[in-house]
Amino acid sequence: MPFIVWNDRLSVGVTAMDREHKELIAILNSLYDAIRAGAAHDSMSETLERLDEYTHFHFTHEEALFAQSAYPDAEKHCLEHANTLAWLAEVRRKYDKGTAAGLSLEIVNYLKDWLFDHILGSDQKYTPWLHAEGICR
Ligand SMILES: [Fe+2]
Ligand SMILES: [Fe+2]
Repeated sequence: MPFIVWNDRLSVGVTAMDREHKELIAILNSLYDAIRAGAAHDSMSETLERLDEYTHFHFTHEEALFAQSAYPDAEKHCLEHANTLAWLAEVRRKYDKGTAAGLSLEIVNYLKDWLFDHILGSDQKYTPWLHAEGICR
């Protein structure tokens, strides 16, 4: 059983965004498995890099939909994204410098809670707006 399992409650009603959220979950599951297996520093570092890059990609895509639809809550939402990217960059920096003894399950648990809170709390708020603008794919 994977660490995080997708369910329909997480859907934001926009196919591309659901697909990207599923990919983020898949990367978090890889990170969880790597930590549990005590993976080597390099391989863990690569998984973290993938998480960082994909999170950037997803946020950029989401923010492009906000710009395209003049979403009124964009500023607050983008700030949440920016804070997360800064936090992730710091985690990576510490891990790559070797100042973090290892990545703990606490970090993936935090990321899981963050992702769920963000999707259910902030992302799902854009659904009616994007649908009204004809964006659902
Ligand atoms: Fe978001
Ligand atoms: Fe999102």
